[in-house]
Amino acid sequence: MASLAFIQQALSELRDKGLYNTIRTIEGPMGAWVTIDGKSRLNLCANNYLGFANDPRLTRAAIAAIEDYGIGPGAVRSIAGTMSLHLKLESAIARFKGTEAALSVQSGLNTNLAVIPLLMGKEDVIFTDELNHASIIDGIRLTKAKRAIFPHRDLDTLAAQLEENVDIAKKLIVTDGVFSMDGDIAPLPGIVELAEQYDAMVMVDDAHGEGVLGSHGRGIVDHFGLHGRVDIEAGTMSKAFGAMGGYIAGKAELIDYLRQRARPFLFSSAATPPDVAACIAAIEILEASDEPVRQLWDNADYFTTQLHELGFDCGESETPITPVMLGEADTAWAFSKRLFEEDVFATAIAFPTVPRGKARIRAMLSAAHSREDLDLAIETFALVGRELGVI
Ligand SMILES: Cc1ncc(COP(=O)(O)O)c(C=O)c1O
Repeated sequence: MASLAFIQQALSELRDKGLYNTIRTIEGPMGAWVTIDGKSRLNLCANNYLGFANDPRLTRAAIAAIEDYGIGPGAVRSIAGTMSLHLKLESAIARFKGTEAALSVQSGLNTNLAVIPLLMGKEDVIFTDELNHASIIDGIRLTKAKRAIFPHRDLDTLAAQLEENVDIAKKLIVTDGVFSMDGDIAPLPGIVELAEQYDAMVMVDDAHGEGVLGSHGRGIVDHFGLHGRVDIEAGTMSKAFGAMGGYIAGKAELIDYLRQRARPFLFSSAATPPDVAACIAAIEILEASDEPVRQLWDNADYFTTQLHELGFDCGESETPITPVMLGEADTAWAFSKRLFEEDVFATAIAFPTVPRGKARIRAMLSAAHSREDLDLAIETFALVGRELGVI
């Protein structure tokens, strides 16, 4: 066996720099409260925006699907055949998103690995926001296309870059819909206008927008009324939809082409029946009622207003992602540790995930939180904030 000394060295460097991540063990379902080390803790970490991760309607749908379809898909769909359940999910996504068609893949990460390398080759150019998610960056890395990275949400630079590349025939502008660390929203209307002017395709990764933005949580395209003007909507079923999986929605020929050639579709087995059934149930719940989305926003507004009143800086967020800005990484780690001692689970986020000096606690609000939960979180933030001299 080869020497693994380089791995040991890398691990000890992470420990020395305080970057070694100890992952907490959750000893039960994911909800407003979670059990960690045998104790119940208020959960401000999950992307479980609508509380669907442990919703009985989703779990019942998953159990029924296991009874009807078994546990696994058998193989990749292009070889072993597709289950009717996957097709049902794809029609539900297309209906929900208002697109011609949709494709389900195994995760949100896989959507970016499916689309970007398939559409873009070495003669082409990709315009990408500097704060785009790692999976978009990885999708771009899998192509030989030219890259133009524009400063965060900077339409002037994007316009200048499009102008510089005006002679390149195939262009793709790709952006997160909601940026996961800051909770701010991409300037999609401006991006779409530029794309139309320069004949570029637009792709938006709506992972943090679906279930959150737009009517009944239909996402960023619906939020801005841009139906029919965004070429590719990609996203995940693992956040607001509570389960697991990814989807790509758009024109029928795009989806057809992905089914023929996208590597995560061709070379990795399909999502499992219980996951797929849970996703269908999540979409049907949202189609029938926007109550969970309204509850999420009420909770987020209440929490952020109270934190502002206490004197906390909640950054530039426009969504239920609530960054509580603390400056240096040490302060953020100490803050998170003290919150945990008070039974509030909220992770600190520091460099390299966010720039140096912009460490924070990222509080993720959920429709599952009760008003008492939020009051407890606010009181605990106030207590720890005063102790550490942050407020
Ligand atoms: C913008 C974005 N894209 C993709 C993903 C990955 O989604 P999944 O967990 O379904 O792979 C995430 C999750 O963090 C995300 O924030």
